[in-house]
Amino acid sequence: MLKHLTIFSLLALMSSCASTDKPEDKLSGSVDSLLSLMTLEEKIGQLSLYTSDWDVTGPTMREGYKEDIRKGRVGAIFNAFTAKYTRELQQLAVEQTRLKIPLLFGYDVVHGHRTIFPIPLGQAASWDMEAIERADRIAAEEASAEGIHWTFAPMVDIARDPRWGRMAEGSGEDTYLGSQIAAARVRGFQGKGYGDVGAVLACVKHFAAYGAPQAGREYHSVDMSERMFRDVYLPPYAAAVKAGSATVMSSFNDYDGVPATASEYLLNEVLRKELKFDGFVVSDYTSVMELIPHGVAADTASAAALALTAGLDMDMQAGFYQDALPRLVKEGKIKESLIDQSVRRILRKKFELGLFKDPYRFSDTQREQSTVMKPEFLEAARDMSRKSIVLLKNEGGDKAILPLSKNVKQLAVIGPLANARRDMIGSWSAAGDWKKSVTLLEGIKAAVSPATKVSYAKGCSITGDSTQYLAEAIRLARQADVVVLAVGEGGLMTGEAASRTSLDLPGIQQRLVEEIQKTGKPVVVVLMNGRPLTITWINDHAPAILETWYLGTQAGHAIADVLFGDYNPSGKLPVTFPRVVGQVPIYYSMKNTGRPLEVNNKYTSKYIDEVNTPLYPFGYGLSYTTFSYEAPVLSSNTMTSRDTLDVSVKITNSGSKEGVEVVQLYVKDEVGSVTRPVMELKGFQKVSLKPGESKEIHFRLCNSDLSFYRKDMTFGSEPGKFRVFAGGNSRDVKQAEFELK
Ligand code: NOJ
Repeated sequence: MLKHLTIFSLLALMSSCASTDKPEDKLSGSVDSLLSLMTLEEKIGQLSLYTSDWDVTGPTMREGYKEDIRKGRVGAIFNAFTAKYTRELQQLAVEQTRLKIPLLFGYDVVHGHRTIFPIPLGQAASWDMEAIERADRIAAEEASAEGIHWTFAPMVDIARDPRWGRMAEGSGEDTYLGSQIAAARVRGFQGKGYGDVGAVLACVKHFAAYGAPQAGREYHSVDMSERMFRDVYLPPYAAAVKAGSATVMSSFNDYDGVPATASEYLLNEVLRKELKFDGFVVSDYTSVMELIPHGVAADTASAAALALTAGLDMDMQAGFYQDALPRLVKEGKIKESLIDQSVRRILRKKFELGLFKDPYRFSDTQREQSTVMKPEFLEAARDMSRKSIVLLKNEGGDKAILPLSKNVKQLAVIGPLANARRDMIGSWSAAGDWKKSVTLLEGIKAAVSPATKVSYAKGCSITGDSTQYLAEAIRLARQADVVVLAVGEGGLMTGEAASRTSLDLPGIQQRLVEEIQKTGKPVVVVLMNGRPLTITWINDHAPAILETWYLGTQAGHAIADVLFGDYNPSGKLPVTFPRVVGQVPIYYSMKNTGRPLEVNNKYTSKYIDEVNTPLYPFGYGLSYTTFSYEAPVLSSNTMTSRDTLDVSVKITNSGSKEGVEVVQLYVKDEVGSVTRPVMELKGFQKVSLKPGESKEIHFRLCNSDLSFYRKDMTFGSEPGKFRVFAGGNSRDVKQAEFELK
């Protein structure tokens, strides 16, 4: 491994200039006295996590999990929820085991628990840290009232290849935005602190670099330079740890030849020593077992030994710790003190949660009833959903088709996703009841005036090649004044185990779009998807396009709010949209190369059959008003590594409606000891402006914003010229420059 002279420097990378203090340790005594009473088997039980049969989130089930609880062979259960059921299982642990150690209940509360919010990629498009934090606060309130102590979130894997279906679960391609969101989400889940009854432990995942599988294929190997890892992929995990994430989940993938679950380098060196993480690390679903097919362990015993020695505290679902550790200790191959260390980390969290005082404090039927899906939660979900929508196209200036009038006479709502209730909540929708979600058709019907006639046709299925519904859709479109056409992927076509080789609309949806377009009626295309799709044809032909991801329980209302102008869209893409899948990976913060593109020069970096530029750049999104920017003004044209530079950006609402803009600040280091990205996001602010109004937005740049892993792998800045870019997306920017002395 490369040498790192500045091992604490990564923490400084997380944008600022401030640090946080750790609370005083009062629990060691309690943890140690409990540990001294435990047998080896009881200790290993605390290191084992099994799924209940209430939800299926992986390939194996464990029939005997209740028996395991009674025998003290398991310390934590996942996929069990409701106050009643968690209480029932908790009773087995505290009434039937010798030491009465309470269970810890985990669950994938990823974008809401009962009230489902937009998928994380959608929430990221809001660029709204307060709203994101609030969404996870609500998720934690609901989940904790149902007995859950621990969520397997946030997922903060940087993802630059949309073929990988799990891009939907994260915050997209960018390190800075991803890091801000990682911290906001940990704050949201853990609220006032995880002794609070309305909070859940966060589990940042998947450590590490899980978002870069080769060819976008799920569970595939990850191989990248150490520099790329540290500059791009590591910071969001670091931000989550810095924000206090109680736990970390190791990833399925191998990284530089070593599966993360058995990587001493990742778990002990980087996570514990450098990032100073002091919680516990859980494996991913059977990932200890997967050390065998990975080919680094020959059998159960060596897999368990490798993982534990690497710093992996809790074995999710493999049962390998339970099966192998007793013998390994007896044979002297594993020291019991190593097991003690992991048990301590886990028991500490149980103490911190207050479970030894009252093991049932989270399983509270009354709180459950008064908390889940409260009207104010639904309102917050609708608001988060509106904020997540990105207006990709709305041609025609003042005569643009959007926003629609609520008095339109005949409105046809067409498409396989127009009335697709299950799809609205997307994947990883926890205990969300899809039957309670609002479809686009229902949202539209609730919004229009009584005089509007709304018709509906499915047109085709999401997948499959049957054309049987096409004719009816075309007939309705012909009769309509306006068509709203909802196309995209099914809600479960992204998420885990959902890689695709094509980014086109599945099934015959492209044909449906073309047939509807041929009717000559004004068409608003509403996209629903968990990854960028290649929609060049639609962009070339449809007058208006809305990206709506999967917006959750309130999807239909939120989309209608935007369609009819009750909400002026302000979302911005957290990920680049390619024109064709062959451009992947395509992201804004690329390197310049030694032969940057010259259109008329064959021997420059380009394709012979497609342009280099994306369809929509990172940070892109329109509004029903327009904004104009002036070039950024710097407080000085020089700075030293101890200074901060003030960047002021003047922005004006040049259109006729009030609107919200995400002002984005990017930086480029002109010359470095290693090649540097063409630009990197270093700040953003959401600003609301009335028509004609101007505001000056201020950003502060300090040394950590200019720092990176230099040629010798030390972290810091290098003197020289920098460019600063400001604008409403990563492509349309104005610039200034300064020198770092
Ligand atoms: C596997 C997934 O990779 C992980 O994200 C999830 O938390 C676990 N299964 C548990 O459901």
